Amino acid sequence: MKEKKIIITGGLGFLGYSIFKKLINENYVLVIDNLSSNIIEKKFVTNNKNGTFCELNITNNSMIEIIEQYNPDILIHCAAQTNVIESMKNPIKTKNINIEGTRNILESVKNLENCYFIFISSGGAIYGEPKYLPVDENHEKNPISNYGISKLKGELLTKNILSQSKINYSIIRPSNIYGPGQKTENVIPKFIKLMKMKQEVRIFGDGSSSRDYIYIDDLVEIILKLCEKKIGCTINASSNQETKIIEIFNFLKKQLNYNLQPTFLDDRKGEIFNISLDNTNLIKILNFNKFTALKKGLIKTINS
Ligand SMILES: NC(=O)c1ccc[n+]([C@@H]2O[C@H](COP(=O)([O-])OP(=O)(O)OC[C@H]3O[C@@H](n4cnc5c(N)ncnc54)[C@H](O)[C@@H]3O)[C@@H](O)[C@H]2O)c1
Repeated sequence: MKEKKIIITGGLGFLGYSIFKKLINENYVLVIDNLSSNIIEKKFVTNNKNGTFCELNITNNSMIEIIEQYNPDILIHCAAQTNVIESMKNPIKTKNINIEGTRNILESVKNLENCYFIFISSGGAIYGEPKYLPVDENHEKNPISNYGISKLKGELLTKNILSQSKINYSIIRPSNIYGPGQKTENVIPKFIKLMKMKQEVRIFGDGSSSRDYIYIDDLVEIILKLCEKKIGCTINASSNQETKIIEIFNFLKKQLNYNLQPTFLDDRKGEIFNISLDNTNLIKILNFNKFTALKKGLIKTINS
């Protein structure tokens, strides 16, 4: 993909900035981010001649003008309040950013002439406690956290607002993303940091809770394929490899020569117990099937 004008909301975050790095050499990218939870400094965007940075909350009314002026070929909407526990403590903030912010962006995008829109949803949060595994895209949606509710509402808004326009769009539901550059509030970087410092690691539950992890570079490649093909679809993006949290702990422990036992705490409200996502549609529609093995991805993350 070359010479395209692309907007990435939340472009200083883990996923947004990873996409930015892949696109910036051959395209023009406007990053919109309010610096609320980013780990990347904005200078990394503006140091690049094709990169522009706009410090703005996605709920702000001037979004419409900014998006219309830039007139993007593609808009990838990553900005969100992404913390499940924070969403239970502060539902209004989560609703404002994830629902009203998304609505604000969609109201701007719907008037564009020729833009492809990607909404980053959450496969781990919108389905709720699975009725069966792996969870496919048609599984019922019963989110148990305010974060999950807000992402599901974002999907519905995308469909409702854009189906009445000429805009082609896709909705992507990633499983747990991990890899270099992630905030240490997320489980894998948190374990790595604490183990490197020889500090106590706490696990919520008894360690048997499972997730399905996708390596950041795999997800970025999937998103770039969507941008190239401009396919309109709603798909899970996962490796479909269910892994218990204690397995991650034990693997990292060995790699990092960590000798302490974990402390087990009560489960947290809003977190589901086990989930893995069916990736049949991802493989079929995008012809993507070269997932980074978890152990390899964890080693790359440790060494980053
Ligand atoms: N990390 C995961 O495991 C995961 C899994 C599934 C889906 N997702 C989704 O992927 C997307 C990216 O997640 P991430 O892990 O990169 O999160 P992140 O927290 O690293 O990045 C989010 C970015 O959005 C920005 N932001 C937050 N609120 C904003 C606002 N009101 N206005 C403008 N910018 C704002 C933050 O400053 C940050 O730079 C999110 O939509 C998230 O829901 C993440």
